[in-house]
Amino acid sequence: MTGEVYYPHKELFKNPVFKNMCEYKEMVEEFEKDYEGTWAKLAREKITWFEDFKQTLDESNAPFYKWFVGGKLNVTYQCIDRHLESKKNKAAIIWEGDNGENKTITYLELYREVNKFANLLKSLGVKKGDRVVIYMPMIPEAAFAMLACARIGAIHSVVFGGFSAEALKDRIIDAKAKVVITADGAFRKGAPYMLKPTVDKALEEIDFVEKVIVVERNNQDIEWTHRDVSYNELIQNQPDECTPEIMDSEDPLFLLYTSGSTGKPKGVQHSQAGYILWAQLTMEWVFDIKDNDTFWCTADIGWITGHTYIVYGPLAAGATTVMFEGVPTYPDAGRAWKMIENYKINQFYTAPTAIRLLHKIGADEPKKYDLSSLRILGTVGEPIDPAAWKWYYDVVGNGRCSIVDTWWQTETGGHMISPLPAATPFKPGSATFPLPGIFAEVIDENGNKMPAQEKGLLCITKPWPSMIRTIWGDPERFVKSYFSTAKKNGKPVYFSGDGAIYDEDGYIWITGRVDDVINVSGHRLGTAEIEDAIKYHPEVAEVAVVGKPDEIKGESVFAYIVLKNPENIAQELEFIKEVNEIIKKEIGAIAKVDNFAFVPGLPKTRSGKVMRRILRAIAKGEEITQDTSTLENPQVVEEIIAIVNSCG
Ligand code: PRX
Repeated sequence: MTGEVYYPHKELFKNPVFKNMCEYKEMVEEFEKDYEGTWAKLAREKITWFEDFKQTLDESNAPFYKWFVGGKLNVTYQCIDRHLESKKNKAAIIWEGDNGENKTITYLELYREVNKFANLLKSLGVKKGDRVVIYMPMIPEAAFAMLACARIGAIHSVVFGGFSAEALKDRIIDAKAKVVITADGAFRKGAPYMLKPTVDKALEEIDFVEKVIVVERNNQDIEWTHRDVSYNELIQNQPDECTPEIMDSEDPLFLLYTSGSTGKPKGVQHSQAGYILWAQLTMEWVFDIKDNDTFWCTADIGWITGHTYIVYGPLAAGATTVMFEGVPTYPDAGRAWKMIENYKINQFYTAPTAIRLLHKIGADEPKKYDLSSLRILGTVGEPIDPAAWKWYYDVVGNGRCSIVDTWWQTETGGHMISPLPAATPFKPGSATFPLPGIFAEVIDENGNKMPAQEKGLLCITKPWPSMIRTIWGDPERFVKSYFSTAKKNGKPVYFSGDGAIYDEDGYIWITGRVDDVINVSGHRLGTAEIEDAIKYHPEVAEVAVVGKPDEIKGESVFAYIVLKNPENIAQELEFIKEVNEIIKKEIGAIAKVDNFAFVPGLPKTRSGKVMRRILRAIAKGEEITQDTSTLENPQVVEEIIAIVNSCG
């Protein structure tokens, strides 16, 4: 890992925050010299405070860090109100529907819509600190809903619309939501799809959800229960002024559930001030957002990328953000490029999976469109292979745009490691360097920096403002998940779960998760969750799942299954279909098994722990370097290898 070097086309950038690597280094040094002071300066410069904070960082109860202690603000004031004086008629959101229809919402309109929605929530009894689950398609009302919660201090928890009723139910229960906001459904690839029936199912055994607010989007028939209220009706009479709730810097802003290596998904809790500061700053630093820019992030709002880079970051920065209901491959492989041409998009942000797919189905497609408005192409969610990077750079970016390969996580709130578009020399496949203020380091568990080309743990060794504050309702799990793997100078540091390598020039190359998390098309899935679902099949005795490299998805799910009665399984494919139906019901279609092997047993240590590392190596077709002689059942490894090889 050293790679070719590409240099930014500086002429594309008029007044970037970082013009060159010297400026980057100066800022890094400023943080090294005066960590808290530099953060405090940025927070005072960027955030409109109702009341200034008294203390920048409170480490007294580490790792439960507090930032900008005593400060008062409202995130929606930062994202909307403060822009009204200079940009009330500027497009805040440009929305495009699946069928190509579009809508522009100005900052003034956004102000009104959010206030009306906030008043609607209040009229239903939602108060500061209440949890509101949002299960919505990609329509402007989803953004209004998030902001309306923030306006009144309710804590939103957006659940990706692709999750099943079971998964939704778990999240509603864990968050103990008072209200759920959903839609009848929406449109995808020219056809309606439904969300409301999934909510009904999720709520079957739940009695504490008081109301379900239903946005009517696709106007298909749905059942209306006693709990349901129509957004379209109720919103009509709401006043369009709602005084923003005065929030403390550390009050929770939202929860977002994500998979860990064990157990159920965890509710990652983010705060107000630190989160919004970093969402805005990274828009300025990494995306070089300027007043006349149109920014498009293709994520779904159900993921952290959608939170930070469709809603909060662009709006805090006073930018125009594009929100898209459909998929970039419908009606054809040119859809995304056509949208870039139409809206004259300046920054386009997507995942390597989408890049690989668009490359595969239409390598020359971008050339048919005028993509000259583009300045920055972003990627996120998984390592990008140099081949995909180069196509993105050469064909989509026409050999001139900066590619920002941004490494970060649900827990980090915003970008942590990324090139700066006008400054950093790029290496395809490397996320390059930590952003100023972010002490991301590749270390061993004792905090020693790894030498070049040796894999280590990707850790963040100082707290940062937009970091996860805790796991909702489970502070012990928070400490265990993130602060119990590595130490530096004797102090526990944040461990990301990823491995990484420095090259000789100090560039960071992310090698992927070292824990039991799989990254399918940039979606994070816990092996334990998938295994728990598969075990519902009555014929499954034991199962272990691992990630297998996949040309398009990055990783796909590989299941090693031990059957109770192998003779009962006549049709293997039928059986896997059944298994996938269960997964769809328990989690969602994204977690489905793509490859499987029926095996006589799983390799286990003498204490009964499944040795996944061995199973991962077999799925990847790698050599087993680990000593297997200490296993309880070493012979099974050879048997599994033979079975997997015979399956091809
Ligand atoms: O493994 C890393 C991978 O995605 C994980 C975080 O997933 P999630 O919390 O769902 O957030 C995804 C969007 C921020 C990380 O632990 N990942 C994310 N970005 C990159 C990446 N791997 C390599 N390169 C990236 N740029």
